[in-house]
Amino acid sequence: MITLGIEGTAHTIGIGIINEGEILTDVKATYQPKAGIHPREAAQFLGENMRNSLDLALEEAGLGFKDIDLISFSQGPGLGPCLRTVATGARALSLHHKIPIIGVNHCVAHIEIGRFLCGFKDPLTLYVSGGNTQILKLKDNRYRIFGETLDIGIGNMLDKFGRETGLKHPAGPKIEDLAKKGKDFVELPYVVKGTDLSFSGILTNATEKFRTGKNSLEDLCFSLQETSFSMLTEVTERALAHLKMKEVLLTGGVANNKRLQEMMGLMAEEHGAKFGVPLGYCGDNGVMIALLGQLMHKAGIRQSLDDTAVNPRFRTDEVEVRW
Ligand code: ATP
Ligand code: FE2
Repeated sequence: MITLGIEGTAHTIGIGIINEGEILTDVKATYQPKAGIHPREAAQFLGENMRNSLDLALEEAGLGFKDIDLISFSQGPGLGPCLRTVATGARALSLHHKIPIIGVNHCVAHIEIGRFLCGFKDPLTLYVSGGNTQILKLKDNRYRIFGETLDIGIGNMLDKFGRETGLKHPAGPKIEDLAKKGKDFVELPYVVKGTDLSFSGILTNATEKFRTGKNSLEDLCFSLQETSFSMLTEVTERALAHLKMKEVLLTGGVANNKRLQEMMGLMAEEHGAKFGVPLGYCGDNGVMIALLGQLMHKAGIRQSLDDTAVNPRFRTDEVEVRW
């Protein structure tokens, strides 16, 4: 079975094609906002780049639409205009080429690509991206949220700090590079409440410290990472100790960060748990959308066009996991 997945919840248009467990292609184009992401501009970017990305993906896979058995697309959560643009494209392709269509949850796709690439059965998942920061565990056929951010996502915090300090979007990778040159640890607010976290205080405080000019940007990036990643590791450890799980999965765009991988890996090791990251597929991509569509289809889930309405506030625990 060959599935084409279309990701388009925010900044990235991603086209992934898989054939069962084989990844045939992964094409991406990412919108670079000047300031924060503007939903209409992002949607326009996705629309303008969808056709080229589709052509390139099919060419790379050596396939035509006649070979595609299923079209999967990101139904939510995300920015309304982006979701509608991609859903309209997916529906048009499905109707024109008479291929079944399925809308999938973007957050569940981040988890499933991790489970698949790491070969995990039942992991405790730390999902860290721009908009999301959640600790999840599958229970009674749903990914239950064990802990989450009470305000902004960790990636959003890093990107906002980057904007305030003149780093280009997305700032996460730049902060990671600068942090390596940091020498002195600067104390920043550390806010953990049980298994929940908050990142807005640390953002305000680090930004203020940058403005006073007393601390170097390198030291602030280093301290920002050490503090916020310790918070993430602490809440995951608390959940792990409580739930006594044997696998720890780190996924989402921020999972690209080597320092976070290191901290989480050490923590998992201390608890005798396996640790995994879907390397190369942490950030938004079409492959994860194709994979989840395929899993749902194989579990017997079918959608009519009426079922494909987008859902900007689609929650992870709304999805019944039947695979
Ligand atoms: P979601 O809808 O899942 O919240 P998203 O739109 O935020 O997705 P992702 O690609 O999953 O998209 O994550 C993007 C985030 O990952 C950005 O905030 C970016 O700064 C961050 N990021 C990417 N690479 C790194 C890195 N090396 N270190 C830290 N953060 C990173
Ligand atoms: Fe994402």
